[in-house]
Amino acid sequence: MERITKVLIDEEKIAKRVAELGAQIEKDYEGKEPIVVAILKGSIIFYGDLVRKIKLPIRFDTMAVSSYGSGMSSSGNVKIKKDMSHDICDKDVLIIEDIIDSGNTMKSLTALLEHRGAKSIRVCAFLDKPSRRQTDFEADYIGYSIPDEFVVGYGLDYDEKYRNLPYIGVLELS
Ligand code: IMP
Ligand code: MG
Repeated sequence: MERITKVLIDEEKIAKRVAELGAQIEKDYEGKEPIVVAILKGSIIFYGDLVRKIKLPIRFDTMAVSSYGSGMSSSGNVKIKKDMSHDICDKDVLIIEDIIDSGNTMKSLTALLEHRGAKSIRVCAFLDKPSRRQTDFEADYIGYSIPDEFVVGYGLDYDEKYRNLPYIGVLELS
């Protein structure tokens, strides 16, 4: 069985950092109307908290993707399980992701959205595990950089469970 061995980021720290990210995004996108895309399902909770801290005329969209990340391919490959509904040609697109691990998913997805003609594409990830990177992808906005530990909660899952935990916890398998 698996168990949570420690709380890595508590509710208070999450709220503080989300407010900071929202303020930064609001400033950077002043005068713009970005399409803000939630990557399902992991970013749902972060997305809901973050968009309420961005006082701009944003538009919502969602996508579900999965990567066949391979160290062999520099671009990786992304499978679109559910596509967004907006035409993003000439639009500013802000992708909201739960965590950047190998970087393969976001590297491929941003390349695809660029190909669709977006005016700009930025990625905001709540968590980042830089030590796990397999490509040169870096997000534009990061909540917290964390060590190489498997984490759950605040949208992140293990076998589809733990997404509803209000904090980020370290999960250990035994
Ligand atoms: P990558 O950057 O292409 O390797 O993919 C990142 C995805 O892997 C995230 O969107 C998560 O779905 C999943 N993931 C990576 N690390 C963790 C973790 O520690 N807990 C839960 N999911 C994770
Ligand atoms: Mg994910």
